[in-house]
Amino acid sequence: MLDLKISDRLHTVSLFVRDGAILADIGTDHAYLPIYLALNNKIKLGYASDINLGPIERAKENIKRFKLEEKIFTNVASGLENIENIKPTDIAICGMGGELIAKIIDASSYVRNNKIRLILQPMTCVKELREYLQNGFSTIDENVIFEDGKLYQIICVEYDGCYHELSEVEKEIGPKNLVNKGTFVDKLINSTIVKKRKIADGMKQGGYDIINIEKEISDLEKLL
Ligand SMILES: C[S@@+](CC[C@H](N)C(=O)[O-])C[C@H]1O[C@@H](n2cnc3c(N)ncnc32)[C@H](O)[C@@H]1O
Repeated sequence: MLDLKISDRLHTVSLFVRDGAILADIGTDHAYLPIYLALNNKIKLGYASDINLGPIERAKENIKRFKLEEKIFTNVASGLENIENIKPTDIAICGMGGELIAKIIDASSYVRNNKIRLILQPMTCVKELREYLQNGFSTIDENVIFEDGKLYQIICVEYDGCYHELSEVEKEIGPKNLVNKGTFVDKLINSTIVKKRKIADGMKQGGYDIINIEKEISDLEKLL
C-alpha cells in the first residue's frame, strides 16, 4: 500500500479525529488529512471540501492516487455551506486565519450540536478565535507543534452552549495547553512574551499607557 507522509502539524490534527468519524475537512487543499486518516482506517468516510477548484482538482488526483474514491468525496463549497447534507461527526478547519475560521463556524448552525467535534488549526489570530469560541464551545483538548521554525496551535472544541470565560493568558496560550504543558508550550509562552514586549516598546515610544500589556507580560513570565 502507498504510504503518505504528512507534516507533524497535520499529524497532530489527525490525533484529535475520533475513530470511525465521518470527517469533513474544510479548506482541504491537497486532501492529505482525510487521505492519511483513511489509509490508517481511522475514518468511516471523508469529505474533502474547498472553496477553490484548483485545490479540489489536487485533492481528486491524490484521492485517486491512493485508490480512496470509495471513501473520500470532494466538495466545492464556501466554509460549512450545505454541510448538513454530509452529516459529518468531526470537522477539521486547518491552515486558515483564525478570524476566517471563526467566521466559517459562525455562519453554520449545524456545528451547534454537542455530537460534533471541531478540530481547528489557525495560522493567525489564535487569540481572536478563542475569544469567539468562549461563547458556546468547550475546549476538549489542545496541542502546540513547532515545525519548520513556526509554532502551530491545534484546538479541539465541542459545542455545549455555555459561556466559557478565558483569561488573557488562556486566550493566548490555551486553557488545555496550560494544564497539559506539552513539549512546545514554554516555547509558545516565550514567543508570546517577545511579541508583546515589542508591542509594549512601540506603545511606550508612542506615549501610550502600557499598564495592561505589562501585566499580560508579567502573567506570562510567571508561567515559566
Ligand atoms: C493553506 S490551505 C490549508 C490546507 C490544509 N487544510 C492544511 O492545513 O494543510 C487553505 C485552503 O483553504 C481554502 N479556503 C480558503 N477560504 C475558504 C473558505 N471560506 N471555505 C473553504 N475553503 C477555503 C483555500 O482554497 C486553501 O485550499
